[in-house]
Amino acid sequence: MQKNIAVLAGDGIGPEVMEQALKVVKAVERRFKCRFTYTTALVGATAIEHTGSPYPDLTHDICMQSDAVLFGAIGDPKYDNAPKAKIRPEQGLLAMRQKLGLYANIRPVMAFKSLLHKSPLKTELIEGADFMVIRELTGGIYFGEPRGRSENGLTAFDTCTYTRTEVERIGRLAFEYARKRSKRLTSVDKANILATSRLWRETMQELHADYPDVELEFMFVDNAAMQLVTWPKKFDVVVTENMFGDILTDEASVITGSLGLLPSASVGIHTSVFEPIHGSYPQAAGKNIANPLGTILSAALMFEYALDMPEAGQLIRHACEKSIEQGVVTADIAAGKAYATSEVGDWIAINTCNTCP
Ligand code: IPM
Ligand code: MN
Repeated sequence: MQKNIAVLAGDGIGPEVMEQALKVVKAVERRFKCRFTYTTALVGATAIEHTGSPYPDLTHDICMQSDAVLFGAIGDPKYDNAPKAKIRPEQGLLAMRQKLGLYANIRPVMAFKSLLHKSPLKTELIEGADFMVIRELTGGIYFGEPRGRSENGLTAFDTCTYTRTEVERIGRLAFEYARKRSKRLTSVDKANILATSRLWRETMQELHADYPDVELEFMFVDNAAMQLVTWPKKFDVVVTENMFGDILTDEASVITGSLGLLPSASVGIHTSVFEPIHGSYPQAAGKNIANPLGTILSAALMFEYALDMPEAGQLIRHACEKSIEQGVVTADIAAGKAYATSEVGDWIAINTCNTCP
């Protein structure tokens, strides 16, 4: 069956890291003798320039009609430095998540053996660390209303909202993932302060009755932030609300040695989206130096989660691990010679397809 992939490269380094991921996806086509159709679509600052909208209707239609969305990055310093701008690239990402109903963002974090020395954390602390953060993605303070400024402009407000249904669906998904792994689940909240967190905790406690085989632990987010870098191996599956998950996963990236290495899968009601957790890294845009592994590993997740080709996902992951072991890596993780983004992409594509004719 022919599968359709929507390709949303976005801004900054998005297009160049996407190019590498596509090389690897095309290597999978050759190796597994299958064909995909690729439809590119605009998102982010690039989309604002061309259409006035950061997530144009046409892009949404393309996503809806696809079997998976591969996503690069969005964001542009032009907007970061213009807090008054009404239309912002990040709104495109949020609109996409909301309109596709992507309520769960799965972020696997692990320490690569040959990169242990790259982490600022002590090797014995991170060696063997391997967990996943399940971040709620369509609720909380990112989406709550009302938000904005008072009439005199001197006060600003955001609202954090969660419904029971929202907590329940992410909670169930997290329990299911915990069941597939070591049956340990950590739920992170700030229930000593926030009403939304108390609803979160109460709901998780009730759900636990349906998953008695899973060990459930609660942790306050400030404590979790500390434990992530002092004892990362204690975690297996972590579930948390939108903003806590955003912050904790950037923090968790120091375990792997570079933010450029972390992939993610956003899943929910409609088409799933596969995106690296890093931003658009505008300082590196167009320089062919950015690490493409986060996006390539996101493509691996796409094969496992959306295209029913787990073997292809495994192969890509192995090729990525091998590239790290052999030092075919970009400057952010290089010990010796730094390879260009495109060279790393070529190398991983060839090694994903090493039995190609
Ligand atoms: C992420 C990013 C986004 C977020 C930004 C770009 C809106 O940081 O996916 O983690 O905050 O969710
Ligand atoms: Mn983030």
